[in-house]
Amino acid sequence: MRHLLSTKELSRDDAIALLDVAEDMAAVQEREMKKLPTLRGRTVVNLFFEDSTRTRISFEAAAKRLSADVINFSAKGSSVSKGESLKDTAQTLQAMGADGVVIRHHASGAPQTLAMSGWIDAGVVNAGDGTHEHPTQALLDAFTIRRRLHGATSRGRGLDGVHVVIVGDILHSRVARSNVWLLTTLGATVELVAPPTLLPVDTTAWPARVGYDLDASLAGGPDVVMMLRIQAERMHAAFFPNSREYARTWGLDDARFDRLPPTTMVMHPGPMNRGLEIAARAADSPQSTVREQVANGVSVRMAALYLLLSGERGDAA
Ligand code: NCD
Repeated sequence: MRHLLSTKELSRDDAIALLDVAEDMAAVQEREMKKLPTLRGRTVVNLFFEDSTRTRISFEAAAKRLSADVINFSAKGSSVSKGESLKDTAQTLQAMGADGVVIRHHASGAPQTLAMSGWIDAGVVNAGDGTHEHPTQALLDAFTIRRRLHGATSRGRGLDGVHVVIVGDILHSRVARSNVWLLTTLGATVELVAPPTLLPVDTTAWPARVGYDLDASLAGGPDVVMMLRIQAERMHAAFFPNSREYARTWGLDDARFDRLPPTTMVMHPGPMNRGLEIAARAADSPQSTVREQVANGVSVRMAALYLLLSGERGDAA
């Protein structure tokens, strides 16, 4: 693997191989000494043109636990805010000898542009581009589901027969897109539930069922309910009447949560709008995987950086 740009292009074998390496990384995270020497001497640049807390910190922790040198670059306070282009920024990174670039950008396709441009030799990891994809989030979600279902016997497995319902702001969600591709590649069935205004106009090319009745979808007792954040910062119009109305019709409130089977996992990529798309009781329950998702994110990102940056790029030892 040279770059990790989307899950759409990931084969089942490659996805399972990455999740299996992440299992090894998770085992390292349980040791007292969490660090591996694998990427010593390599430089990873975190290039964040959009705000982020957990994703940036997670990539930083992952790179450091592989002993890479990490440079954090956020567009605010950089020459990007003075109008420097992605190309100029990339050429700066190239001159500094970056081996890996983790990029989050408000424009869908920016990581692809960077990877294919020839401006840099580094391996590129997409950490979220516009409303397009967020592959490491989907990988950590798949990892979390697989671990909850299969525990110590997870290695080598996909998600065959697993029923996942993804709820909410699908329209603006790169997390939903990456999950639709990855989870179905791994054998899961994906159902999207949202108000029509928060679904893309055309989802016929997506390998997912679409529904408009949350209670009907939850009545089926899915294995996983994934609640998405209402991305107000991407909304320049009214997509629903008001917050109370949204929570009542589309939120995982106490009543809906109480009707779920105790085996249904409740997921959320964070940051959560508590009381809007998810009630505190659901978010903090033992069925919630929210904190596991964050912890697993480091293991999955370690796996991605390891697969991209170790080996053939230089001294494999
Ligand atoms: C997601 C993102 O940025 O796409 N968050 C994340 O990576 N933790 C989802 C979101 O912002 O709602």
